[in-house]
Amino acid sequence: MRILVTGGAGFIGSHLVRRLIVRSGHDVVNLDALKYSGNPANVEDLEGNASYRFVHGDIADQLLVERLLREHRIEAVINAAAETHVDRSIVDPGSFARTDVVGTGILIEEARRAGVARFLQVSTDEVYGSVETGTSTEEDRLAPRSPYSASKAGGDLLALSYWTTYRFPVMVTRGSNTYGSHQYPEKFIPLFVTNAIDDQPLPLYGDGRQRRDWLAVGDHCAAIEHVLLRGEPGHIYNVGGGNERENIAVAEQLLACLNKPKGLIRFVQDRPGHDRRYAVDCRKLERLGWKPTVRFDEGLKATIEWYRKNEAWWRPIKSGAFRQYYEEQYRKRLQEAG
Ligand code: TYD
Repeated sequence: MRILVTGGAGFIGSHLVRRLIVRSGHDVVNLDALKYSGNPANVEDLEGNASYRFVHGDIADQLLVERLLREHRIEAVINAAAETHVDRSIVDPGSFARTDVVGTGILIEEARRAGVARFLQVSTDEVYGSVETGTSTEEDRLAPRSPYSASKAGGDLLALSYWTTYRFPVMVTRGSNTYGSHQYPEKFIPLFVTNAIDDQPLPLYGDGRQRRDWLAVGDHCAAIEHVLLRGEPGHIYNVGGGNERENIAVAEQLLACLNKPKGLIRFVQDRPGHDRRYAVDCRKLERLGWKPTVRFDEGLKATIEWYRKNEAWWRPIKSGAFRQYYEEQYRKRLQEAG
């Protein structure tokens, strides 16, 4: 198939593009705006591959999207372009609404007008909001609580409305917390791993007892491809790793892997509106033939190994513009934690 992947220079997107080309033999056009977390280095190995084309641009650029869909005779679109970090959404909610809602709206409308055969919207389990007990099924009410998850819910519902209204074949995946190589070090696991490598404190929010279900990026991409090819139009599919852990347990585990002391953990001021727990019921996608394959212990070890061996990837990020973000986000918190 000829597939347009948006956000393909980002973390999940770059793994997805590589999988679609190298493992599955698809042709991929990668449209990425290369904002702060989109990184050409994530896909540099694909440059020169006859099945790959990179285009620098925004999903909200209607004329560009229209032209790309036509010129490349695109058959399927996977929208993996998004603003994704909750902490940033708290300081700059407008950019989340712009990309995750308006951008999705422009992309899907052009895809519909071009007669694309399949459209997959990569969403998140965070749209269900904080789930104290049990698991969220695809029928559950959405209750997003951060500007990030609310914007993703907006894009997710907008996409689904295209099936109801136009019978445009849309599928939505709602994935859980994803981890692996090439993840921008603002997120929990890569931030903590790279800080620990440098013997820097690990800023754990609140009491550290929040729970997340960790999904290996390879498993997440396999799920996205599976739904693109086999999902039913108009349907939503939860994707989870089956690895629910408290944040403090993950922090301690990664410190143990790196042979660093637990004393690096600092309990810092909590994130406002911090969701306590996410957990999804993935039986629907399992019935469709997908299941996660990576055990968290193995996946975490491999991820840590990657960050240890690829300092040339993350050191320039952490010493560049990220530094100012880190100062603003953490300096006061870490000072107060002592
Ligand atoms: P994150 O990677 O931001 O993903 P999300 O908030 O979308 O689940 O955070 C994962 C968990 O780790 C979340 O409960 C917040 C927590 N966390 C910290 O305790 N400290 C940090 O510095 C960060 C970035 C996250």
